[in-house]
Amino acid sequence: MSFAKFMIKKSINQIQAESESGELKRSLSAANLVSLGIGCIIGAGIFVMTGQAAAEHAGPAIIISFILAGLCCAFAGLCYAELASMLPVSGSAYSYAYASLGEIFAWIMGWLLLLEYGLAASTVAVGWSGYVVSFLGNFGIVIPEYLTKSTIVLNESKEMIFTNQFNLPAMLGVAMMSVLLIFGVKESASFNNVIVFIKVAVILLFIAVGAFYVNPDNWHPFIPEAVPGGDDKYGWGGIFRAAGIIFFAYVGFEAVSTAAQEAKNPQRDIPIGILGSLVICTIIYMAVAAVLTGIVPYTTLAVPDPIAVAVDAIHLPWLSFIVKIGAIAGLTSVMMVLLYGQTRIFYTMSKDGLIPPVFSKIHPKFKTPWINTILVGVIVSVAAGMTPISILGDLVSLGTLAAFCIICFSVFYLRRTAPEMKRPFSVPYPKVTPWLGILCCGYLMWGLKGMLLTLKFYFVIGILIYIFYGYRNSKIRNSAKALNEIINREA
Ligand code: ALA
Repeated sequence: MSFAKFMIKKSINQIQAESESGELKRSLSAANLVSLGIGCIIGAGIFVMTGQAAAEHAGPAIIISFILAGLCCAFAGLCYAELASMLPVSGSAYSYAYASLGEIFAWIMGWLLLLEYGLAASTVAVGWSGYVVSFLGNFGIVIPEYLTKSTIVLNESKEMIFTNQFNLPAMLGVAMMSVLLIFGVKESASFNNVIVFIKVAVILLFIAVGAFYVNPDNWHPFIPEAVPGGDDKYGWGGIFRAAGIIFFAYVGFEAVSTAAQEAKNPQRDIPIGILGSLVICTIIYMAVAAVLTGIVPYTTLAVPDPIAVAVDAIHLPWLSFIVKIGAIAGLTSVMMVLLYGQTRIFYTMSKDGLIPPVFSKIHPKFKTPWINTILVGVIVSVAAGMTPISILGDLVSLGTLAAFCIICFSVFYLRRTAPEMKRPFSVPYPKVTPWLGILCCGYLMWGLKGMLLTLKFYFVIGILIYIFYGYRNSKIRNSAKALNEIINREA
């Protein structure tokens, strides 16, 4: 069997025809797309992981980590923007890979997107649970600890230990969102705008008020001295490691490209949406990180609700209340968008025959892929209940970074194989930028090497599923095979 058999491609016309049959209205402006991007981006990364990455790896220099991770996303974002402008269809990275590199890469991409969307939803659910528990605590409602902690815990030497506790609020959060998705509730652009407004307003309020309570002594030393043998604890090693961790905070910007079918002027507005939301979020993240590590010593931030800890330290109960409400609202919407994205990726893969047809079965009344949503909900919920946020976050970052490498490579590949195709948005320095993207993403992946083995294992399972199921049931392959047989018979 030659490798070329795995590289069968969907034609660009076919992808466009499939997306046009959706008859979606082109109603989203560039501003709507930036808002959509921010809606997907700002979530557990800034509300939870910033504190942990600062406490355990970078200290106040987490600000530098944000610049590094943002830069890495910018290279990948430019590549996304070029592909999105060439192929303004929904389905995003999976469809781009199918059209550019071929089926096996599309499968790998879909498999990685399960980490990027599905597991990211679990991660956000754990963050959501942290703020909900803290919020309820303000009203004297205390949930027993064994119902708020993950089943798996890491000991001092980072070994996994199984306990009999689980994170109930996180599981319930996912279950609630899944039920809403089955009933067909999904965020409309105007609802998204409202949530984004609340989320950003709360963060800006935190920055504006918190700035008055910064104690510059907390920023010294800005780069804490590396702890020898401390597993990237502080120093420059810690800054890079933290960049890999808080890379999670940027995950989601490429969701803008999934709205290509609904954009008024996709060729111009999708790149604006992707890059605009990235720049705005980087500035916000750096400001939050500066204020957070300025208010309290960074060593106190390894908690599920670091921003709430900082706000509580300045004794402003009204601000604490607002921040928690804002965090809960923001995390709820991100959780829903991620779950929605995951179900739609599975739906498209199932339509292509790469995963079983049950994933594209539509409910007769609600017109949603309900069995798919239940299955995704169960997987995401169990992962959220059992796994600590540090493991979940690292896996999401690794999966997404690997997906970004494929995207950057697709740009390079298409420039060689289809140089004549119209590129309404063109990556600047096309010979260099995709490789810089691959290099930066690869470097951040290396920083998360503790989880690399798990990723390899996951990858092998994915390839086996493809060989034993996807390859045999692929609709494109089967129709190409049938066509060949007819041609051979008639020849
Ligand atoms: N970037 C998203 C978050 O931080 C996934 O929650």
